[in-house]
Amino acid sequence: MKKGEIILVKVEKIINHGYALGRVEGKVIFVDGCLPNEYVKAKVLKIKKDYLEARAIEILEKSPFRIEPKCKFFGFCGGCKLQNIVYNEQLKIKKVFVEEAFGRISKIVNIKVNEIIGADNEYFYRNKMEFSFAKRWLFGNESYSDEEKNFALGLHVPKQFDKVINIDECYLQSNFSNKVRNFLSDFLFSRNISIHSLKNKAGLLKALMIREAKNTEEKLVALVTTKYEDNLISELSKSLKNKFPEITTFVNVISSPELSSTLPDRIINIYGKGYIIEKLFDYSFEIYPETFFQTNTKQAEKLFGFVIDYIEEKIEDSKESILVDLYSGVGVIGIILSRYFNKVFCYEEIESAVEAGQRNASLNNVNNIHFFRKDLNKGFIIDTNLPSEKVTVVIDPPRAGMSENTVNSLLRLRPQRIIYISCNPVTQARDIQKLSNFYQIELIQPVDMFPQTYHVENIVILKLFSITS
Ligand SMILES: C[S@@+](CC[C@H](N)C(=O)[O-])C[C@H]1O[C@@H](n2cnc3c(N)ncnc32)[C@H](O)[C@@H]1O
Repeated sequence: MKKGEIILVKVEKIINHGYALGRVEGKVIFVDGCLPNEYVKAKVLKIKKDYLEARAIEILEKSPFRIEPKCKFFGFCGGCKLQNIVYNEQLKIKKVFVEEAFGRISKIVNIKVNEIIGADNEYFYRNKMEFSFAKRWLFGNESYSDEEKNFALGLHVPKQFDKVINIDECYLQSNFSNKVRNFLSDFLFSRNISIHSLKNKAGLLKALMIREAKNTEEKLVALVTTKYEDNLISELSKSLKNKFPEITTFVNVISSPELSSTLPDRIINIYGKGYIIEKLFDYSFEIYPETFFQTNTKQAEKLFGFVIDYIEEKIEDSKESILVDLYSGVGVIGIILSRYFNKVFCYEEIESAVEAGQRNASLNNVNNIHFFRKDLNKGFIIDTNLPSEKVTVVIDPPRAGMSENTVNSLLRLRPQRIIYISCNPVTQARDIQKLSNFYQIELIQPVDMFPQTYHVENIVILKLFSITS
């Protein structure tokens, strides 16, 4: 077989990252652009020792679950890879991702994965979107002026770091967000404002972030630039106030021209209080431009609601126990669960998140919670003097999962239960495998936080083996 060759493949299932898996001549092939059980004509793009990569160029036998995607950028933009599949089928595919991850990586046999908790809103669900300024991705059938080629505000084409699709509609956030982005894009384009280029470390515009609470009316707009431009920001601020009185705060994030990321050097509050308040159940949280917060508020309530129901039903005398919240961010989980435990200890690396956690705790009159700034790559030590049955740990790490040191610290602490929440079932399964000599899986519960994308959130509850078992 050669690169560029056209082959026929019957694909079996979608695996992580939206590729479908098939087999040709006994070799595994990952095909982009097709659905489970489809028979396709595909072009071979890469030949590796153990597998091939290909792109479907014609669907010969269509899946009954294939639908017309809603978005005109589908297939180009990396966001909504599953938008051409009916929603119920998306949920089944994501359940298979989780089963695969746990079957293949953790090698734990007889895995039972609960039915995934689906979303009521398939579209317009995100409370945060970040769009980048960059050179424009050119669609072959359209003509562009030189100015248009050099200016776009939108989302990246996969693997194209220096170009974005100029987005003028997106179905992941609200219509309001679409209007604000389009207005800002026109405003800045018409004034010929330069776009940041990493190559020559010049140019002003880096990104636009829009955050809108779903359980309150508050909305934040953050323009990320490489320096503060007084005239521009004052004019923009007036126009935004005029055109969108719904925006409760506008901030200018200054981020170094030396970096490709939007990491803030400083944040200038232009109007409003500089953050928004979002609510989960009865709790309020301050969300700043740089704060990590679950992006789907309604599904976050289902996710945390599931954990609350479990604690209420299964953890006896939890009021006498402690909860350890690892990778705690701004304390959302610890605060929501604080009423079920005697004390809560939160561990988080980023200082501003620890401080926001403390503010969130006072905002909600939660007094039994303590925040510690800690780099969990180095592990942790808690001297509780409590027997293991009085300790529950909740973990919600970034996509890379837990560090080896934190896994070892957990094994030393030996809590009775571990509630492991993750947006990456692959690293989650890997970590759980490392705990499996001492812990058994009590349940696996996926939750769909990200409809239309191949991402899935997953809760695994682990219970310490009893001495007799
Ligand atoms: C997925 S977020 C979870 C936040 C929080 N549990 C929530 O639900 O809002 C992961 C958190 O882990 C933190 N983090 C990442 N690496 C860390 C490390 N090495 N040590 C401690 N915290 C870390 C991040 O700053 C982030 O707040």
